[in-house]
Amino acid sequence: MLSAQHRALVKATVPLLETGGEALTQHFYRIMLGEHPEVRPLFNQAHQASGDQPRALANGVLMYARHIDRLEALGPLVGQIVQKHVSLQVLPEQYPIVGACLLRAIREVLGEEVATDEVLAAWAAAYQQLADLLIGAEEEVYAASASQPGGWRGTRSFEVVRRVRESDEIVSFHLRPADGGALADFLPGQYIGLRLVIDGEEVRRNYSLSAAPNGRDYRISVKREAGGKVSGHLHEQVKEGDCLELFPPAGEFVLRPSRKPLALITAGVGITPALSMLEAVLPSGRPVHFIHCARHAGVHAFRDWLDGQAAKHPQLRHYVCYSEPRPDERADAVGLLSRERLADWLPAERDLDAYFLGPKPFMALVKRHLRELGVPEGQCHYEFFGPASALDN
Ligand SMILES: Cc1cc2nc3c(=O)[nH]c(=O)nc-3n(C[C@H](O)[C@H](O)[C@H](O)COP(=O)(O)OP(=O)(O)OC[C@H]3O[C@@H](n4cnc5c(N)ncnc54)[C@H](O)[C@@H]3O)c2cc1C
Ligand code: HEM
Repeated sequence: MLSAQHRALVKATVPLLETGGEALTQHFYRIMLGEHPEVRPLFNQAHQASGDQPRALANGVLMYARHIDRLEALGPLVGQIVQKHVSLQVLPEQYPIVGACLLRAIREVLGEEVATDEVLAAWAAAYQQLADLLIGAEEEVYAASASQPGGWRGTRSFEVVRRVRESDEIVSFHLRPADGGALADFLPGQYIGLRLVIDGEEVRRNYSLSAAPNGRDYRISVKREAGGKVSGHLHEQVKEGDCLELFPPAGEFVLRPSRKPLALITAGVGITPALSMLEAVLPSGRPVHFIHCARHAGVHAFRDWLDGQAAKHPQLRHYVCYSEPRPDERADAVGLLSRERLADWLPAERDLDAYFLGPKPFMALVKRHLRELGVPEGQCHYEFFGPASALDN
């Protein structure tokens, strides 16, 4: 239990963290990744380079310090961190490493005069409180994943039973448990963690499950990123018959139960979780407005499948927007997705549920359009294919 004095000292550090929070976490990551190679595989180096991950952690630490009197106010943030941690298999024994590096970084960035022994002792106690909270919540998720039929804990080996090229940039991998055992269901919208060893170095990444649960296999659909380590490896090296190591499905960007019309609005490879949501919802007869944006037909994945579903299910409307169409390519709109176009494609009644995903500028645009079109904010859901960050509007 945190003492009143500890709480007061932590809260007093909030203004300092607000101005220097990112410098602190940048420094923290430098120390941790430099001195603790054992935790390096969990962290995506590209997220460090872009600053997104240090920013996400700085935001987490700040929220925590601000709400130290009322930890329940952290609610949604805790859930998000827990799911991300679980998907990459953060373990209890790694918390002391993070704690020690964070305290050292506080001392070195703020200096001994500000970060006195007393302040550091308060932060150590506060960190322990948050760590205990996260470790407990993460264990609950690990245990639930392991105990469900077809579930597991840690890695499980999956055979690539099918590999399908979906577009110039995207390849799908159909994955079946190599042990021949049952396969756990998941919530449409969730993602798995993938653990690979490439050129002797361990790396972990998340990939959304791009087809609804079927009890037999999972499908992931991977866009090849220029210079991307894992996507390049999957595209170039991984073939049918090979095995991949998976952590169980996790994630909170999931289809919530509702009977309202559903808008799935995606761009590029952001289509993947929307595909499993769509497939899961189609049998219910719920109206779905599926809007997808791509540069052009060459990089547009799953179009034929979606057109086929729209032909079979009258409640599904499928719209396509190309920003850079090539000659003779057909689309329902050209250019960036405009508010007017979105207004035409959504049901006139704006009491709908919207889920959207794509590059960050696309998501900021969609979020703004939805707000201006009167879709209630609480009914708009999105996720990032990387560390969570603010969507400026
Ligand atoms: C919840 C979630 C779901 C996801 N679902 C999908 C999905 O369904 N399909 C999909 O394709 N992706 C998905 N992703 C993204 C995926 O996890 C990977 O981030 C993506 O495949 C790129 O990984 P990579 O190893 O190929 O690229 P990385 O090696 O991580 O590189 C990414 C980019 O950063 C650059 N870069 C790398 N290191 C540095 C550095 N040190 N300095 C500067 N630049 C650098 C690279 O050149 C490249 O352009 C998802 C991510 C999350 C978080
Ligand atoms: C109290 C301690 C911790 C806090 C407050 C915390 C907070 C966070 C936050 C806010 C995120 C971003 C979530 C998102 O993007 O949605 C995150 C991601 C992550 N955390 Fe933690 N974390 C803690 C401990 C740990 C520990 C002990 C590890 C293991 C070494 C760890 C590993 C990770 C990893 C691997 C990611 C994803 C990084 C990426 O996207 O590249 N965290 N954490």
